Amino acid sequence: MQILANIIPYFISQVENFSRRERISFAYLSIENVLGFSKSDCILKNDFKINKKDIKSLINIVNQLKKNVPIQYIFEETIFYNLKFKLNKSTLIPRNETEELVKWVLQYKFNSLFDIGTGSGCIPISIAKNSNSIISALDISLDALEIAKINAMYHNVKVDFICDDIFSYIPKRKYDIIISNPPYVLKSEKVFMSKHVLDHEPHSALFVDDSNPIIFYERIIKLSSDYLNDNGMLFFEINEKYSGDIIKILSKYNFVDIELKKDINDRDRMIKAVMK
Ligand SMILES: C[S@@+](CC[C@H](N)C(=O)[O-])C[C@H]1O[C@@H](n2cnc3c(N)ncnc32)[C@H](O)[C@@H]1O
Repeated sequence: MQILANIIPYFISQVENFSRRERISFAYLSIENVLGFSKSDCILKNDFKINKKDIKSLINIVNQLKKNVPIQYIFEETIFYNLKFKLNKSTLIPRNETEELVKWVLQYKFNSLFDIGTGSGCIPISIAKNSNSIISALDISLDALEIAKINAMYHNVKVDFICDDIFSYIPKRKYDIIISNPPYVLKSEKVFMSKHVLDHEPHSALFVDDSNPIIFYERIIKLSSDYLNDNGMLFFEINEKYSGDIIKILSKYNFVDIELKKDINDRDRMIKAVMK
């Protein structure tokens, strides 16, 4: 792997546990990260000689990919809603569906918002960057919140981060919007999940007991019925299997105008409800 032109073939031949498209994309990302070269640089400077230190870094990336470490954890960053976010193993890697949830929220006018289970802070920070509102965000993980605070500082936005357990936390004020992407994957679904996720992402961010898959939704709906302003809105990312159960609880707590939204794969993955 002495010259730039060899890097893509090296990734393709070595990282067999990912698709060919992923291997090529990881190679370009690694070239950019380690050598600072863009895709077009790769064509223009294809005979560029790589120094020993950078070869070592590239080999190290390949070795981690072989162990199924997601590329976002290798570089400790990702892009969400066109913004760069720092990540580590205490934070979930933000998903595309969550970007769609943020896009949906930003269609409305609001003065205050509370994000429950904030992780890297991707939801409140991307909303703060694109709105003018008072924003709070809560997570049970102190390690995740440290990353979220770094991300808020990097993007120069003000978010009040709270470390607490949503099952005991009582908000100090009412909000126009409450939003959450809580843990919603059943423990029994682990067998169907890829090793990239299972071996590396925080299980406390993903999984719930099979005995009550919507435990977070029940708690957050109940809390929101007391802590949303009149006409305030509740937004959730959901497991499509439980949309019916979640709608039932929303109705029980007198939420109206309940709306399901599909993701780009045509699955019901988001829900919105209004508190009258
Ligand atoms: C699915 S992740 C969502 C992370 C981020 N909002 C995102 O969309 O990428 C759920 C988050 O809920 C947090 N969490 C889990 N149990 C919690 C609890 N009892 N109280 C508060 N937060 C909790 C986890 O630490 C994790 O960051």
